[in-house]
Amino acid sequence: MQTTYSTALSSLASLTMTTFLMLSGQARSEPKDLKLMGGHLENPFVDATFYRNADYVLAVMKAADIEGGELGKQMRQVAGHPTFLWLDSIAAVHGTDGYPRSLAGHFDEAIKQRANAIGLVIYNLPNRDGSALASNGELLVSKNGLERYKTEYIDAIYKVLKQEKYSGLRVIMVIEPDSLPNLITNLTFERVREAEKSGAYVKGVQYAVGTLRSLPNTYAYIDIGHAGWMGWPSNLNPFVELLKTTGAGISGGNGQVDGFISNVSNYNPAVEPYLKAEQQVGGQPVRSLSGWYDWNDHIDEQSYATALRDALTTGKDAYPDRIGLLLDTSRNGWGGPARPSAASRSNDLKTFVRETSIDKRIHKGNWGNQTGAGIGARPVAKPAPHYHAYVWVKPPGESDGSSQLIPKGPDNPAGKGFDQMCDPTYRGNSLNGNNFTGAMPNAPVAGRWFQAQFVQLVKNAPPPFKSE
Ligand code: BGC
Repeated sequence: MQTTYSTALSSLASLTMTTFLMLSGQARSEPKDLKLMGGHLENPFVDATFYRNADYVLAVMKAADIEGGELGKQMRQVAGHPTFLWLDSIAAVHGTDGYPRSLAGHFDEAIKQRANAIGLVIYNLPNRDGSALASNGELLVSKNGLERYKTEYIDAIYKVLKQEKYSGLRVIMVIEPDSLPNLITNLTFERVREAEKSGAYVKGVQYAVGTLRSLPNTYAYIDIGHAGWMGWPSNLNPFVELLKTTGAGISGGNGQVDGFISNVSNYNPAVEPYLKAEQQVGGQPVRSLSGWYDWNDHIDEQSYATALRDALTTGKDAYPDRIGLLLDTSRNGWGGPARPSAASRSNDLKTFVRETSIDKRIHKGNWGNQTGAGIGARPVAKPAPHYHAYVWVKPPGESDGSSQLIPKGPDNPAGKGFDQMCDPTYRGNSLNGNNFTGAMPNAPVAGRWFQAQFVQLVKNAPPPFKSE
């Protein structure tokens, strides 16, 4: 059966209430007044009714129709949860070059849905994705990229956001995934080094937050990578300094930042339910396991992000204590038959961790379309201390990158690169301990629909989606 636009929209209407209840945690019969009452909110997720990206909903409905049966029913449940809208190019703002609708078009749709919140990803820095190839961007530092980022991208977004008719929408923005973390560990990559030398990432982030947050209904959450990247003190300490100097240089100061987000598009668990970092097995702490935690202080996201937040809110250039955390849980579920339900009884550290960890990746450095992953916790406000929300930033079912080179053309209109970390036959590099990548085969370019991955993510979602 062909899913039509109106089918998708009528399913949306019936799902509005579910999402509202989920995010607000309390029953209400009407969405709140679209106008914000008291200006800027401390936690914009409370009582929020989020926009469901109409184009993503269509993709999910189509995927469900293809599978049909029980699985198809489970898949349709996914469309009831909000995902973030990625503004990954200038054209994405205007709805040109094959994007199905403009940013203003999405905002209009959000108002039609009677939503009072929308999630955006600001993702177009010059030399973007400088340590990987799958999501390389359109702007280059060497070609006036920072100036173009400011005038053609951020200013264009601002022009949409500032319109009076959208002032009742809480605009929640994830700021530039991977950019600042790359400055800590990936200066060996030419494009990152250039971004560091020119200050393009830092200045770009400062301009984005300074400009877009000058409106009272906008909210900025800066990306902080994930535990398996920044968790060691040798990375975390300089990262804290970088985040503090970046914040101090924002027009209006670091109080313009509402919080920080970890695990964007990654697969790291919120918590490891049966493991503790310092727990001794065979005379060694869990976190010492070589080739997996490698003495990382933080074996899961909550531990990492909370420690980072503590460091950011103390000492010189401290951020205000009200800053909150977000976690992208769209693909960190690790359910299905491989999920352990208790700790292993083994006395051998490696066996113990392998049998106990819910994260079934081959290596923590693997990030491309991971085999075995499932959709994680559903979006929810205030899930843990200091957390504003769990959110779905990466829309489940959208690829991380192609598993082989796809030349620029109909299947790769933006000319995205090929990163071997998305190729299941690649044997790895120093970033993943020279392991296999664990990526799923036959993947399309980053951001494109990947049906086989969506099937897997839905099947492995803990708790499972109901089939009605
Ligand atoms: C891609 C973007 C896409 C986003 C969400 C990124 O990896 O580069 O083009 O919009 O993922 O799927």
